[in-house]
Amino acid sequence: MGLLDGKVAIVSGAGRGIGREEALLLAGEGATVIVNDVGASLEGSGGGDTHPAQEVVDIITSNGGKASVNGDDISSWAGAKNVVDQAVESYGTLDILVNNAGILRDKMSFNMEESDWDDVIRVHLKGHFAPSHFAAVYWRNKSKSGQPTSGRIINTSSEAGLYGNAGQANYSAAKAGIASMTWVLARELERYGVTVNAIAPRARTRMTENLFGDAVDKKEDAFDEWDPKNIAQTVGFLASDEAADVTGQVFVVFGGDVWAMAGFHPVGEVHRDHAWTPSELVAAKSELFKDVSSGLPKFSFI
Ligand SMILES: NC(=O)c1ccc[n+]([C@@H]2O[C@H](COP(=O)([O-])OP(=O)(O)OC[C@H]3O[C@@H](n4cnc5c(N)ncnc54)[C@H](O)[C@@H]3O)[C@@H](O)[C@H]2O)c1
Repeated sequence: MGLLDGKVAIVSGAGRGIGREEALLLAGEGATVIVNDVGASLEGSGGGDTHPAQEVVDIITSNGGKASVNGDDISSWAGAKNVVDQAVESYGTLDILVNNAGILRDKMSFNMEESDWDDVIRVHLKGHFAPSHFAAVYWRNKSKSGQPTSGRIINTSSEAGLYGNAGQANYSAAKAGIASMTWVLARELERYGVTVNAIAPRARTRMTENLFGDAVDKKEDAFDEWDPKNIAQTVGFLASDEAADVTGQVFVVFGGDVWAMAGFHPVGEVHRDHAWTPSELVAAKSELFKDVSSGLPKFSFI
């Protein structure tokens, strides 16, 4: 008996890295999985190589599970529709959508090209929204036809998006947008029994091997805290019926640590019954920032 027996899931970007482990874990818990991956390079070039996705499907089926490959570009409207249609047409339903596919083009703002901005925003932000749209259409129609409905969307944000990382204006903006979109989708889809949450993972993949070097290496005889398998466990929990009361949440996940994160909240305030002039705000600045620094918030891992 698995936690996800009988469920049908889509995982985008599941040919390698974190998505691969998510697909394997969901299948290990009993879900049938559509393994989506366009087969792109880290920077998003190339594509069309379905071997990594096929390998994941082969592992799942050789373990007695059910899975199939989808090689569509998840950030295209038509590709996103195909993935959702494939789940429903092949397996009769869709229960779980894990939005995970991503690329990186790190550059300082003054060095960034238009295509670096457009491609990273498209793959992450539209690549999360487009399949969520078609899944939402499916769940809403199902509910309106009188059938009992429940669904799960698990998005992939990043600490770069929650804190803002220098050198990642495109990526951080997309990942902050994904956190914000998680709240919107959670509010819109609650009435259809659909929960929407996001993770901000930290794991060893080709994305972090270049960034963090030796720091991500597995240490001898120690718990491998950078193993992407660790991330998949939280996704398995969020995908389950047992997490029906968890929605609109963002979790930082690393090794054996899971942090539930809170959003923006006031840290200082000034009030009166008419507007402040700029000069008056100069005078009120120390009151507004009485308890906190007025400088740039620090970005440090928890
Ligand atoms: N690795 C980390 O520590 C870390 C930290 C924060 C966030 N993330 C996020 O986790 C997710 C997975 O990253 P990863 O580290 O496993 O990277 P990865 O490069 O190993 O895997 C990403 C996969 O997405 C696929 N992909 C890219 N564009 C696609 C598209 N348009 N359609 C379908 N598939 C596409 C790639 O082919 C690749 O297989 C990303 O969203 C990333 O931003 C990772």
